[in-house]
Amino acid sequence: MGFDPSDSRPVILDADPGVDDALAIMLALGSPELDVLGICTVSGNVPLDIGTGNALKVLALLGRDEVPVYPGAEGPLRKEAVYATEVHGPGGLGDSALPLPGRSPAGDAVSFMIETLSTRPREVTLIAVGPLTNLALAEAQAPGVLKKAREVCVMGGAVDEPGNVTPVAEFNFFADPDAARQVLRSGASVTLAPLDVTHRVALEASHLAQLPASPAGVFVREAVRPAMDLIGRVQNRHRIYLHDPLAVGLAIDPSVFGFETVFADVETEGILTAGQVVADRRSFSKDGNRKGLPVNCAMGVDAGRFLALFLSRILPSAV
Ligand code: RIB
Ligand code: CA
Repeated sequence: MGFDPSDSRPVILDADPGVDDALAIMLALGSPELDVLGICTVSGNVPLDIGTGNALKVLALLGRDEVPVYPGAEGPLRKEAVYATEVHGPGGLGDSALPLPGRSPAGDAVSFMIETLSTRPREVTLIAVGPLTNLALAEAQAPGVLKKAREVCVMGGAVDEPGNVTPVAEFNFFADPDAARQVLRSGASVTLAPLDVTHRVALEASHLAQLPASPAGVFVREAVRPAMDLIGRVQNRHRIYLHDPLAVGLAIDPSVFGFETVFADVETEGILTAGQVVADRRSFSKDGNRKGLPVNCAMGVDAGRFLALFLSRILPSAV
């Protein structure tokens, strides 16, 4: 029994492409459960213009030029911009060399988010896999707009897990801690995929051998290679964590995950702790005594089920 496209879930993907962002775009577009209304880009792994070009390049590779791309914030709300080119490469897509995009972006990310969420209240899912600057700007310009999303699936933060960019902070929350705190406190229906869950699912070198020699298969191999080599050097195992695809997975099939409500807030001022998710794990009898807000966090995952879903969808049959 095939999937009925009329049941597909409208989503906006907000990303900082970025290698795992590109894999998240491929997963979202390869999943019939999702109807991608547009891709918004934000400064993060690479400067905004590079990330925007990368989104356009990946869509062209997939033969999906009908999907509009909307550039957003060129930097965080308050902090200096930080990038992750040591992981993703100066061009943001590892060693891959996709053709230059043949089209321009469609318009402004924040305006697109506000208009789409306002005209289709409680229908559209926001999937945010970069710093949350665009979402925070949308909320500041149209207070309450994030609450109009059906769900806000966020890759970000680290609850009980160490950070990946500082001892306590995950990159997306570190890059714009003010935006992260504002989104968590917006009252929107946020579901978080923190490092606690994304460090449980990795694309291994052995998975690459399964990929066909199609343009998309070659792209994946070339895109992930430097990041795999980097992790191979520091962890002695060639793999990359599927951070951003897991946030897309929250919208495709939540049954793959285990969830926990964590009372949490985000540190924005600490010299050593900016971007940290501060979770109140104290053993109180009543939650009313806890600091922070209740956040729905994916803290467990069936890694095998997710990897099977991911590998079966990222490569469109046509390319
Ligand atoms: O910490 C992982 C996150 O930071 C991912 O979204 C990755 O793309 C980088 O943006
Ligand atoms: Ca990202």
